[in-house]
Amino acid sequence: MLITRNIVCRCSGTTEEQISKLVDHGIDDLESLSRATGGCSGCGACDADIMALLARLSPCNAGGNLRGKTVSSASF
Ligand code: FES
Repeated sequence: MLITRNIVCRCSGTTEEQISKLVDHGIDDLESLSRATGGCSGCGACDADIMALLARLSPCNAGGNLRGKTVSSASF
């Protein structure tokens, strides 16, 4: 059986499912998400993907930020 994990951060192994669960538990800003998973804390290559995922999963997010980058669905 093939198990597919949608890894969005290769440095930390953070998956889309992990992020979705955290958003379900009220974590909807990138800084908190990064602290909880380690995502966006390494090379930074996943920043845009994680910001897009967070914007998609929490459409009411008014704009968390990480490293000066603002979450906005308008930028994707
Ligand atoms: S891929 Fe996420 S920090 Fe490197």
